[in-house]
Amino acid sequence: MTRRTLQTGATGTLGSALRPRLRDAGHGVVAASRSPPTGGGTDVEWAAMDLIDGTGIRDAVADVDVVVHAATAPQGDTEAVDVRGTERLLEAAADAGVSNFVYVSIVGVDEIPYSYYERKLTAERAVAESPVPSTIVRATQFHSFVRDVLETIARVPIWPLPTGIRLQPIAVDEAAAAIADYATSEAGGRAPAVGGPEILTVRDLAETYRDVRGLRRPIVRLPLPGKVAAGFRSGAACCPDRTVGTTTWKAWLEAEHRDRLAADAKR
Ligand SMILES: NC(=O)c1ccc[n+]([C@@H]2O[C@H](COP(=O)([O-])OP(=O)(O)OC[C@H]3O[C@@H](n4cnc5c(N)ncnc54)[C@H](OP(=O)(O)O)[C@@H]3O)[C@@H](O)[C@H]2O)c1
Repeated sequence: MTRRTLQTGATGTLGSALRPRLRDAGHGVVAASRSPPTGGGTDVEWAAMDLIDGTGIRDAVADVDVVVHAATAPQGDTEAVDVRGTERLLEAAADAGVSNFVYVSIVGVDEIPYSYYERKLTAERAVAESPVPSTIVRATQFHSFVRDVLETIARVPIWPLPTGIRLQPIAVDEAAAAIADYATSEAGGRAPAVGGPEILTVRDLAETYRDVRGLRRPIVRLPLPGKVAAGFRSGAACCPDRTVGTTTWKAWLEAEHRDRLAADAKR
């Protein structure tokens, strides 16, 4: 029998990589978004859901066995989406008899007192304490996230950066593959984390980005005081014993750069 799996955050960076993985693994995917695509042509069933006001949650969860919860609002109302939205979803999942609620979290949320991470930690606790059987899997930063951050300063002539911060970025496809493996009908509790193949400082990351993009910009150390930066510098956002991904930052950037040049050439 096809397992029905609700995927929240299905339009996001991770969600877009997870959708085909789950479908190819034989799940009947119900993909949730506040604005599902219209006009057909998609390969999964879509459900309209808003975690802030609760629209569509109960209908979407009603007949699924597994939930993979990857919706988030790091820049928006994190408390409403990530904390209260997760609690609402858990209540609906409990009533629907969901057998495995997979919650996607971030490596270091318990050690780095960054407000977004604190909310993710609160959500993790709600998941762990809920009567719904669950799996909590933490991942490190996606390559595309690091790229987006560096892109914001790319045009500035000098790059002031917190060079000592250490990260272990992973290709989102590889993170999605590992997370999809947890979407079974048996809950796994706290699952081993999912990290990229190497730990790099922000200086390493920025230098590689600069070289691959063919830019010439000096990088200067931006001293960042406080516990958040100290947590990132200490390596708390890394999981050295869980190097699941194999695509390095440099290889990922080079492939992306080639694709970008090829797309530009076609225009
Ligand atoms: N990005 C990273 O580097 C990284 C690293 C480790 C772990 N993670 C975790 O991985 C998960 C996915 O992250 P991501 O970077 O892929 O996120 P993302 O690209 O920002 O996507 C966020 C998703 O959440 C949905 N969403 C936002 N507000 C919503 C609301 N009110 N109701 C329902 N859905 C809502 C969005 O859907 P619509 O806008 O279509 O409604 C979108 O699909 C998160 O749990 C995140 O903490 C991310």
